[in-house]
Amino acid sequence: MKILGIETSCDDTAVAIYDSEEGLLSNIVSSQVKLHEEWGGVYPDLAAREHTKNIIPVIDKALMESSVSFKDIDGIAVTVAPGLIVSLVIGITVAKSLSWIYNKPLIPVHHIEAHIFASFLTEKISYPFIALVVSGGHTELYIINNFGDYRYLGGTLDDAVGESFDKVARMLNLGYPGGPIIDKISKEGNETVKLPRPLLNDKGKNKFNFSFSGLKTAVLREIQKGIYKKEDIARSFQEAVTDILVEKTLTAVKEFNIKEVVVAGGVSANSRLREKFKNAESSEGIKVHFPPLYLCTDNGAMIAYTGYKRFKEEKITINLNFEGKARLRMDKFSEIIRSNRTSF
Ligand code: KG4
Ligand code: ZN
Repeated sequence: MKILGIETSCDDTAVAIYDSEEGLLSNIVSSQVKLHEEWGGVYPDLAAREHTKNIIPVIDKALMESSVSFKDIDGIAVTVAPGLIVSLVIGITVAKSLSWIYNKPLIPVHHIEAHIFASFLTEKISYPFIALVVSGGHTELYIINNFGDYRYLGGTLDDAVGESFDKVARMLNLGYPGGPIIDKISKEGNETVKLPRPLLNDKGKNKFNFSFSGLKTAVLREIQKGIYKKEDIARSFQEAVTDILVEKTLTAVKEFNIKEVVVAGGVSANSRLREKFKNAESSEGIKVHFPPLYLCTDNGAMIAYTGYKRFKEEKITINLNFEGKARLRMDKFSEIIRSNRTSF
């Protein structure tokens, strides 16, 4: 079975073709990073314009690289939520048009579940597992009981973790996106700046929730003192963030006695986060899965593969009159599409 996956939820125009027999046939990402650099973040109108320009050439390239034509495709998977609505609707409209013209099933995919299931492309993972999703727009903890069966544990009360990496990088004039730069320069720094770890020891209603805006403000205060090296501030910030992410995940591991963990989303590329989870594997007797680096940030492969799972395991497709949604939690999304509703 061959599934074409389309992803346009943020600033990357991405298309891939997944074949259940042969694996990934192509995975094309057209990045807009250079364009958004001067804004220090994604500028929605610009992102939408670029998607409009790039989407057809990217689909064309994905088909050419895999030597596949539309008649060989068994289904079209597309990200329907969450994301920038002006970006989402471009991928959705193109997917609908292709589905209509070529009479192919249309398969809905949630961006966050795609990040999580990307690891299945390269790893053997068993259910249930804890999923930590850390991206530019999301910081969430879930129990994944099975494909489509998701239990939300908690999420960020303010900034997403990737967003806080990007904001701290901007405060330090390091460029965009900030995560990879902070990761890199932290290697030359020491943890000399004392920073808070918000909600880390909360055992009450915020046990599985996160908060990064206070940490960001604390970093700003330290920068304004003008006494610390950028590398040391970056290192101290990264240590605080990774402590919070690892500790909260381990709290879930212990509370629910689940021994497998999947870390997903752009920030899962962070080398210190990977190192700390690796250490936890031996100390806690758990297995932690990370996607390979090329599947950490937004890509079409994760959409094509998750679409394949949805089509094969759940037999769910959607009508041409469904809409996209800027905000929608993954567990709610699954409930809606499983109940055959066409509107979010
Ligand atoms: O998943 P993603 O590509 O897009 C969203 O769905 O948001 O994540 C992008 C985020 C950016 O905030 C970027 O700074 C962060 O992932 N990121 C990193 C690293 N690589 C990317 N953060 C920390 N360390 C990294 N190595
Ligand atoms: Zn993403």
